[in-house]
Amino acid sequence: MFKKLQLFKKEQQNSSESLSFRKLEVKKHSIPEHIAIIMDGNGRWAQKRALPRIMGHNEGMKVVRQMTKSANELGVKVLTLYAFSTENWKRPKTEVEFLMKLPEEFLGTFLPELIEENVQVRVMGNKNELPTHTLNAVNKAIRDTKNNTGLILNFALNYGSRNEMVKALQAIVQDSKMGLIDESNLTEEVVSSYLMSRELPDPDLLIRTSGELRLSNFMLWQLAYTEFWFTDVLWPDFKEEHLIQAIEEFQNRGRRFGGV
Ligand code: FPP
Repeated sequence: MFKKLQLFKKEQQNSSESLSFRKLEVKKHSIPEHIAIIMDGNGRWAQKRALPRIMGHNEGMKVVRQMTKSANELGVKVLTLYAFSTENWKRPKTEVEFLMKLPEEFLGTFLPELIEENVQVRVMGNKNELPTHTLNAVNKAIRDTKNNTGLILNFALNYGSRNEMVKALQAIVQDSKMGLIDESNLTEEVVSSYLMSRELPDPDLLIRTSGELRLSNFMLWQLAYTEFWFTDVLWPDFKEEHLIQAIEEFQNRGRRFGGV
């Protein structure tokens, strides 16, 4: 029994040593400037444990904290997390209410640490449709971290890519009526400047957990040249080693952006 325990401890030590080594190695190469994550599988994680789905979301929130820390340490500049889509309002009322409380819970608990770590919080999505308590919590975090220069933690909250594009088109048509733009100067850069991600670089790496292989209305314009990394791991089980694995694979891919 004692021998088994010693062996287990040694294995754990080895694996954490090799993780620190891998972390140092990936930092020597090009780190994706912007990582976007579709955090999927919270419900299944809970169901597997015979727990209510909201427990999966609660566990997923803790992973958000760990991944923010890891991404910041690795030198990632922007971490965009798909926290609530424009379609997620269709979920049962209790689940929606719980999901709307998570930003408050997360920021209420971790905002001081995020400030300490120089993280800047942002929100991308239709903020005006959020319940007041959610809006107040995110606005406070945005205000309190606006001068921070470390990782940008960008929550996609009440976000949907098609909705974002429709809004951009409406604004473009309006500006065109006012003579601010016309057909001849409507370039890709101009369209990008009307999107909710306007101040951010396009994602270099997209991660989706839980084995689903789709984009679910997430950053369709911005992901045009992004590298995709899918894993069967459910979001509440996602660990730093998975993030590092995704970055290692990203570093081994040849990005050509349509060139040769
Ligand atoms: C998808 O999993 C997940 C969501 C719709 C919510 C994601 C939210 C978090 C991970 C927490 C966010 C934290 C903050 C701080 C805002 P699912 O419920 O669709 O899982 P399933 O496909 O297994 O049912």
